[in-house]
Amino acid sequence: MKRSILLPAAVFITASVMMLSANAEENKPLTGKAAFVASRCTVCHKIERVCGQVDEKNAAQWAVTVKRMASKGTGISEPDQKQIVDFLSSPAERTALCPD
Ligand code: HEC
Repeated sequence: MKRSILLPAAVFITASVMMLSANAEENKPLTGKAAFVASRCTVCHKIERVCGQVDEKNAAQWAVTVKRMASKGTGISEPDQKQIVDFLSSPAERTALCPD
C-alpha cells in the first residue's frame, strides 16, 4: 500500500528540485547554501527578483527584505533568515546563485 504513495512523491520531489536548479543557472545544479537559499526564495517568485537586487542592497537592507518575506507566512526561521542574509550580502558566496 505505502509504495503506491512513495513513488509519485519521489518523482514529484525530484522534478521540483530539478526545476528549482534549472531556474537559477543553465542546468548547473545548485549545492550547499545556494541550493538552500534558492529553495526558500523561489517558492513565490523567480530568483531573478532576488538576484536583480544583490548589488543594490547591503546586509541591513537584506535583513529587512528577508524578514518581510518571512512574514508572508513562509515559516523561514530566524537562524535561516540570518544565513540567507549573510549569503546574499557576500559577493563571494552569492555568485553561485547569482552569477555576475
Ligand atoms: C510567500 C511567498 C514569498 C517567498 C517565500 C519569498 N518572497 Fe520575495 N516577494 C514575494 C512577493 C509577493 C513579492 C512582491 C510584493 C512585495 O514586494 O511584497 C516579493 C518581492 C521580493 C523582492 C522585491 C521587493 C523588495 O522588497 O526589494 C525581493 C528582493 C524579494 N522578494 C526577495 C526574496 C527573498 C530573498 C526570499 C527568500 C528569503 C523571498 N523573497 C521569498 C513573495 C515571497
